[in-house]
Amino acid sequence: MKAPKYQWQPTTVEIAAAAGITPEQVERFDHNTSPFPTEWAPAVAAASLRSLNEYPGADYRTLRIAAAELNDLEPEQIAPGAGADELILLCGRAFLDRGDSAVAATPTYPLYEISTLQAGGVFQPVPAAAPDFDYPSDQMIRAARDADLVWVCTPSNPIGNVVAPDTVEALISATDGLVVVDAAYAEFAGADWSKQVENHHNLIVLRTLSKAFGLAGARVGYAMAHADLITAVDGVRPPGSISSISVDLAQAALGASTAMNKNVATTIAARNDLGVMLGSVGLRVLPSETNFLLCEVGPHAHDIARHLMEAGLVARKFPVDGPLRDYLRFTVRTQQAHNRLITELERCLP
Ligand SMILES: Cc1ncc(COP(=O)(O)O)c(C=O)c1O
Repeated sequence: MKAPKYQWQPTTVEIAAAAGITPEQVERFDHNTSPFPTEWAPAVAAASLRSLNEYPGADYRTLRIAAAELNDLEPEQIAPGAGADELILLCGRAFLDRGDSAVAATPTYPLYEISTLQAGGVFQPVPAAAPDFDYPSDQMIRAARDADLVWVCTPSNPIGNVVAPDTVEALISATDGLVVVDAAYAEFAGADWSKQVENHHNLIVLRTLSKAFGLAGARVGYAMAHADLITAVDGVRPPGSISSISVDLAQAALGASTAMNKNVATTIAARNDLGVMLGSVGLRVLPSETNFLLCEVGPHAHDIARHLMEAGLVARKFPVDGPLRDYLRFTVRTQQAHNRLITELERCLP
C-alpha cells in the first residue's frame, strides 16, 4: 500500500495574501508552537555561523550529552533527530519489516500511520469514542498483544489528554514488540520518562525542542531508549540531518531549562485563560495537558475555520469524513491573539 501523504496547512504568506493582511498579522493557532520568540537564540545562532563551512559532527555527541544530562541518562541512551518527526519515520524504518503490524489509538498524530506504511507495515487504528475521546486502554492493550509496534501519543495530539502511566506500563508488558511513546508535549504535563526508559528494553520515548523549548524552526528532537534500540535508530539515521546551527541552539536550550520551565508555566496559565474564554462563547473545551485546546464547535466547524482564516486566524480543522469534523483545535498564543480570536468567534458563531 502506498503511504498517504502528510497534509500541510497553507503557509503564513499564502494566508496573509488571501486575507489581504501582512504575514505578521497572521496568527497560527494550528501549529502547537510557542508564541514567544526565543530571546537568546540570535546570539547563539550568530556564533555558529562562523563554522558553517564544515559539516556538523555526524555522531552529534555533544547534543546527546546535553539531552542525557537533562534526563539523567547516558549519552548512549539518546539518538538525536531532525525533530520528533524524523525520529517517528526512523522508528518505522528501524523496527518494522514488510507486513508487520503497528497499532495506535485514533484520532492521533498522522505521521505514525505514514511511518508504518512507508516501512511496508500494516497500520491498525483503535478508535477512541466521541465526544471525549478517552484513551481506549482495554482495546489498545488487547491490540498490543499481536502488534510489532505500538505508537502511544501522550499527551495526545489532537485530543490533549494523557494516557495513564498504568496503561503505558500495561501496553509495554502486553506486547512482544516495541512501544514508541511520542512525548512531544511531556513538559506541559510534567511528565519525566527517564525511569521508564531505564526499566524497559522495548520502550522508545521521543522528545522535541519544538514545543516547550520554543525552537520549532530549528528542527531538533531526540529519542531516549536502551542503548541497543538507540544503535538501531542510529543505523537508519541520515548522517547530517540536523544543521550545526540547530545543534548549537538545541544544546543551549537543553542547558537552560529555567527558561523552558518559565515558558511552560506561562503557557499553562494562558491555556487556562483561553479555555475559559472559548467556553464563554459556547464552545465545549476538552481538558488539555498540552499547549493547545480541542473544542467541539458543532456541524459548522469548517465554516467557522474559514471565517477565522479570512481574518488571518488559523485554526486546526479536521477531515470532514473523520470523527473530529465538528471540532477545532487552538494553540495557546498571546493574550492579544486570544482577544482577536474571541472577537472573531463572537462575530461568526451562530
Ligand atoms: C505528537 C507530535 N509528535 C511530533 C510532532 C513533531 O515534532 P517535531 O517538530 O519535533 O518534528 C508534533 C508536532 O506538532 C506532534 O504534535
